[in-house]
Amino acid sequence: MSDEAGRQRPRIRKAVIPAAGLGTRFLPATKSMPKEMLPIIDKPVLQFVVEEAVASGIEDILIITGRGKRAIENHFDFHPQLEAMLRATGREELIDQVRDVGDRCRIFYIRQRRQLGLGDAVALGREHVGDEPFALLLGDTIIDPQTGSPPGLRQLMDAYEQQPATVVAVHAVPDDWVSRYGIIEPARESTPMQNLSRVARLVEKPEPGEAPSNLAIAGRYILAPQIFECLDRIHVSVGGELQLTDAINLLASEQAVYALAWNAKRYDIGNRIEYAKCFIDHALRRPDTADAVRAHIQQALASSGDSPA
Ligand code: UTP
Repeated sequence: MSDEAGRQRPRIRKAVIPAAGLGTRFLPATKSMPKEMLPIIDKPVLQFVVEEAVASGIEDILIITGRGKRAIENHFDFHPQLEAMLRATGREELIDQVRDVGDRCRIFYIRQRRQLGLGDAVALGREHVGDEPFALLLGDTIIDPQTGSPPGLRQLMDAYEQQPATVVAVHAVPDDWVSRYGIIEPARESTPMQNLSRVARLVEKPEPGEAPSNLAIAGRYILAPQIFECLDRIHVSVGGELQLTDAINLLASEQAVYALAWNAKRYDIGNRIEYAKCFIDHALRRPDTADAVRAHIQQALASSGDSPA
């Protein structure tokens, strides 16, 4: 792929998915089970993330795992005994469901030995990624684009094709939520796309009065390979962790970084309420569960004295 001046523009082929965090906000479930494997009805969160990457055109995925995360590798592996049992009992259609995504891309794993933060997890991808721009998808975040829109990561990749540089997805959050996320300060500079702005700086989990905007980083990124040098140069900060936001901030002081304000729902599964919302929204949308779940919610609200909106 080349730009208007004929320069080669590297294609985004690889993705890194950090899934090694301790998930303390979701204890006790995460004591023995990765939060990235929590199911939304019958599909683990991480499978949604991998499917989004594959549907966006990613061919190679590196998952950052760690202690207690073996279920992740098993999930994307073949399971010959299970497949033989499904075949023997005439349930072949389920075989596609248990295999599908693991067959459609190459998945690699690396372990993070100590949970030193998202920045540390991303740094572990350096050798695998090499010297090319890559996608980063948080393993505990599900993105639901508006109906009819491309997958979340694909939208970022399209923005990268217009403006080949680091691009982070952002979405507007209520003012009292800014202290949960990395928040961007947009620069006053025009770009080729209406919903794309250059980033002046980023602040990790600011106090509500100190946030430069209410645009929160949404868990999907296209990163230039120079991010790895920036990760080498930062120090532990908020929460005693190596923050990816600090490294992107450093990158933004040396080269262009853009933010794509998209219209998509973001579910941070590490947060219990967002997990519950994600589960309910999917249950209300899936043809095999929608009617029964809607009826149940209406009945439950009626018997608790509330009426549904
Ligand atoms: P979170 O910021 O939600 O951190 O990670 P966490 O440690 O998992 O959760 P809490 O705050 O203790 O509840 C965002 C993503 O980055 C990964 C997580 O697995 C999650 O998918 N992560 C985080 C790592 O891979 N390594 C880390 O050291 C931290």
